[in-house]
Amino acid sequence: MIEVRQLTKSFEDKIVLNKIDAVFETGKTNLIIGQSGSGKTVLMKNLVGLLEPTSGDVLYDGRNFVTMSKKEKVHMRREMGMIFQGAALFDSLSVLENVMFPLDMFSNMNYNERVKRAEDCLARVNLVDAGNKYPGEISGGMQKRVAIARAIVLNPKYLFCDEPNSGLDPKTSLVIDELLSGITKEFNMTTIINTHDMNSVMGIGENICFIYKGRKEWQGTKDDVISSTNKKLNDLVFASDLFRKVKEVEMEEERNQ
Ligand SMILES: Nc1ncnc2c1ncn2[C@@H]1O[C@H](COP(=O)(O)OP(=O)(O)O)[C@@H](O)[C@H]1O
Ligand SMILES: [Mg+2]
Repeated sequence: MIEVRQLTKSFEDKIVLNKIDAVFETGKTNLIIGQSGSGKTVLMKNLVGLLEPTSGDVLYDGRNFVTMSKKEKVHMRREMGMIFQGAALFDSLSVLENVMFPLDMFSNMNYNERVKRAEDCLARVNLVDAGNKYPGEISGGMQKRVAIARAIVLNPKYLFCDEPNSGLDPKTSLVIDELLSGITKEFNMTTIINTHDMNSVMGIGENICFIYKGRKEWQGTKDDVISSTNKKLNDLVFASDLFRKVKEVEMEEERNQ
C-alpha cells in the first residue's frame, strides 16, 4: 500500500500538486486519471523520487519515502518497477539484454541465472521468441511488453506505469491492460497507472484517483465512476464515446425500474 499525505509540489511559484491525499492499494490496479496537464506525471515522479515534494509525505507500507536518507531511497527503489512514457528501451541492446539489465546492475545472480530469470519474464509477457531481436525490429506493443518484463524482473512490490497505452491501438492497449492487471494479482503488487484512456478505466479501474488541476477531485472504483454525479469527472469521462454509451444504458435501466 502506498499512502500519500498532503502532497504538494510547486515549481517556483506555480503550484502543480495541491495537498493530495490518496491511498493506493496492494494487489490492485490503482489508476490516476485526469486531463492532460492535470499533474499525473508530476505526481508519479514524486512517488518514485524522480522529483522532491515541496511538502507532504509518501508512505510505502508505512515507510516514509520523503524523509529517508539517500541510501535508504536507493534501497527502496529496488522494490519499484517503472515503465515511463515511451518504452524507453536501450536500442543497442537485444530484447533479452534489455530485460537482463536491472539484474546485471542490482542482483547477485550469475550469468545463467540472469538469463533464466529474464527468459521467464519474457515468457510471462508472451515474448518467448523475441529475446534475440532488437527494439527497432519489434512493434510498439511488443516494446511495451519488453518494458513490462524489464520492470518486473527484480520482483518489485510496487509498479508504476505512466500512460502505458499511449501510441498503441485499442486492441493492443487491451492486451497491455490485461497484462498489467494479471501481473498485479499474480505478484500482489501495488500497481499505479497514469492514464487518460477511458477503456482502461472501465477495464481495470479498481481504485481510481481523479486529479483536477493539481487537486484530488474524486476517488472510487470503475463502478462508482458510472454512478458518480461529480460534474468534473463526468465531463472527463463523457468525452469518451464508450462512456457515453455505458452511462446511457445505466440511465435507461434506472428509468425502467
Ligand atoms: N519541471 C517542471 N517545471 C515547471 N512546470 C512543470 C514541470 N513539470 C511539469 N510541469 C507542469 O506541471 C503541470 C502538470 O504536468 P504533468 O504532470 O506532466 O501533467 P499530466 O501528466 O497530467 O499531463 C503542467 O502544467 C506542466 O507544465
Ligand atoms: Mg503525463
